[in-house]
Amino acid sequence: MSNFVSKHILCVNELNRDSIETIFHVAKKMEPYAKKQKRTKVLEGAVLANLFFEPSTRTRVSFGTAFNLLGGLVRETTGMQSSALAKGESLYDTARVISAYADAVAMRHPDAGSVADFATGSTVPVINGGDGPNEHPTQALLDLLTIEKELTRFDRNIDGMHIALVGDLKYGRTVHSLSKLLCHYKDVKFSMVAPDGLQMPDSILDTVTNAGHQIELVNTMEGNLAADIVYQTRIQEERFPSQEEANKYRGGFRISQAIYDAHCKPNSVLMHPLPRDSRGDANELDNDLNNNDNLAIFRQVQNGVLIRMALFALTLGVDELVEKYETDVPWYSSKKNS
Ligand code: CP
Repeated sequence: MSNFVSKHILCVNELNRDSIETIFHVAKKMEPYAKKQKRTKVLEGAVLANLFFEPSTRTRVSFGTAFNLLGGLVRETTGMQSSALAKGESLYDTARVISAYADAVAMRHPDAGSVADFATGSTVPVINGGDGPNEHPTQALLDLLTIEKELTRFDRNIDGMHIALVGDLKYGRTVHSLSKLLCHYKDVKFSMVAPDGLQMPDSILDTVTNAGHQIELVNTMEGNLAADIVYQTRIQEERFPSQEEANKYRGGFRISQAIYDAHCKPNSVLMHPLPRDSRGDANELDNDLNNNDNLAIFRQVQNGVLIRMALFALTLGVDELVEKYETDVPWYSSKKNS
């Protein structure tokens, strides 16, 4: 994809290395606005329909925040029961209706392929905020931007890096999308660290192998976390056939400071798409890591706003106009010097 204007962002297959670099370039230009050092009104008058038919904290709020930071307005619907989908309306009809109100759509839905179905009826750009176990392209982009920034701290690149993907690699859509995006880079070593039964789907393993990357499939963390990036995931309990089945995996792969010290490299960067399951019997990324400088989870969150601002600016054709519509920030902001 070279021209983003009016395009949908549905899956990472539509992106290549050039388009990823364009998104990152625009995302980095958004930093002063996300930090409230400056304001821009470039999307003043534009409306985002933020349609979330499945639970979300950061994706939903950061899409809305990103649109607001560009000067636009946000209208939301959350949950299937509060929309006319519960009365049998099709995704196509819903899209035709929403297109009459909004200039862009961000959407999450529990069914794989549902956001693409919706996009067939939409006359405005649709950005996929997660469709069931399938894809989460904006999470993959923010993860990749985080990886690039974190590795830069240690004079390293994505090309040639070693990443350990840990946990539920079967249902975790973020690791599916991230693995595909990494196929645009060179010589990446993947350690796929998952319990038997939750390993990465074969189709994605094939894609990664065909990109020339090296893969190790392992079922234990011991000896397999000495990577540049350790990307932990949540057991996606809501996607299992039964709670009983999900319970078999709860708490099987926990990373604490002691595990980090014993099995990671001295500066392995710890990532997680969040939410981390912090219930006692799961505790997949322990709170005792919160003061570890290499815990990047809250920097991922900040990068999510930048990526979503960039995608709105690009799909609505204002990426070169952001500064032109700039104004001062008169209020105190704790983010200004962050
Ligand atoms: N990472 C992520 O998708 O988080 P939410 O489910 O809170 O949006």
